[in-house]
Amino acid sequence: MGRSTLLSCLGLAACLLLLLGGSESLGSQEEQQGPWEEDRRAVTEAAPWARARYEAVKKHLGAVGALSKQYWQYLACKVSQEGCEEEGKRKAGPSPGWSLPLVGQDYLEIFSAWYCSFGKCCKTGDCRIVNNITGLEMDLNGQLHGQHLAKEVVIQAVRRFLQSPQPEKALVLSFHGWSGTGKNFVARMVASHLYRDGLKSECVRVFIALFHFPHHKYVDSYKVQLEKQISETVQLCKQSLFIFDEAEKLHFGLLDTIKPFMAHNGKKGQVDYRRSIFLFLSNIGGNTINEVALDFWRAGRAREEISLELLEQRLRLELLQPAENSYARSHLLEENLIDFFVPFLPLEYHHVKLCARDAFLARGLPYTEAALDEVARTMVFVPKEEKLFSAQGCKSVSQRINYFLP
Ligand SMILES: *[C@@H]1O[C@H](CO)[C@@H](O)[C@H](O)[C@H]1NC(C)=O
Repeated sequence: MGRSTLLSCLGLAACLLLLLGGSESLGSQEEQQGPWEEDRRAVTEAAPWARARYEAVKKHLGAVGALSKQYWQYLACKVSQEGCEEEGKRKAGPSPGWSLPLVGQDYLEIFSAWYCSFGKCCKTGDCRIVNNITGLEMDLNGQLHGQHLAKEVVIQAVRRFLQSPQPEKALVLSFHGWSGTGKNFVARMVASHLYRDGLKSECVRVFIALFHFPHHKYVDSYKVQLEKQISETVQLCKQSLFIFDEAEKLHFGLLDTIKPFMAHNGKKGQVDYRRSIFLFLSNIGGNTINEVALDFWRAGRAREEISLELLEQRLRLELLQPAENSYARSHLLEENLIDFFVPFLPLEYHHVKLCARDAFLARGLPYTEAALDEVARTMVFVPKEEKLFSAQGCKSVSQRINYFLP
């Protein structure tokens, strides 16, 4: 392959990558827009369009295969710090046969990332997948407040699943609790510690019931789309993550579509679904969980004494009731497709203060105890008599600190 061909190939790959990644720079990292805002944008703007470009890039892999061995070694060294024995020499300038100067360092970075995304240089075998379980544990311990059960269940379940060489089925977790208690937060944490690009990863798909599937009359076309998106993602990534927010509002027809992907023999033809993770986020059972928490408080017992067994039992009872909501009508429970119930407890005053502290820290701002109290006092606490639990959990706390900046 001649040098000009190489350059145009690099240029093309870089362009395509810029196009592919273009939407990523749009999203702000701030929580203020709501957790899934970026994803909504990505879904609405980029999906089919990005896919086409992805395919184009993949085609070029053939052309790239003709690049010199030396070049790949150089990239491997850049990317994974492996095979760098001649690093000093290379830093001084690449060996004869091809040359970098016109391409530029930025292109090389982008190209390296692209090369890496085809699974040539990472411990997990796929650089899009990082599976940083230690990091997940660390960050949940530091930033998820008042959720001893959720923390433990999520970390244990995910760790065991990732360590299993051959899982029997996809991992299915069902998050339950009031809004603002941390369900979205944990889902985002899982995405960002398992995938290099977090929620924006092509291996992660977020579905928000009322946003993606708003009209019941279109449920048949939603089913087709959903099945297609799940199978495509699984084919693209050997480990996928699917997040269903507002799961209580998912039409049962859609749940039926998802079911086969979570089943015990999750295999269709060549495609193996058993390395996928499904998270369902809903407020079903929120009141039940709160009642238990209130009972414990009234009995003078610590909330950390609340056991998973107790809550799971109560949640199961509630889910199996022939309720008006479609989630309960689904067969997820009866067919034992849910591996773990993850209860999120209502948050108390001191938890809200911790969220406020995190919000100050996240913006690098100084804070005082008094400021944290002021923020927490803006929240509504229920029930009327005890004023024990924040009705909105920690929702919008990070915006509220604006009013109390020194
Ligand atoms: C894992 O996550 C932690 C906490 O977010 C982070 O400090 C660390 O750099 C991550 N490790 C890797 C290998 O990404």
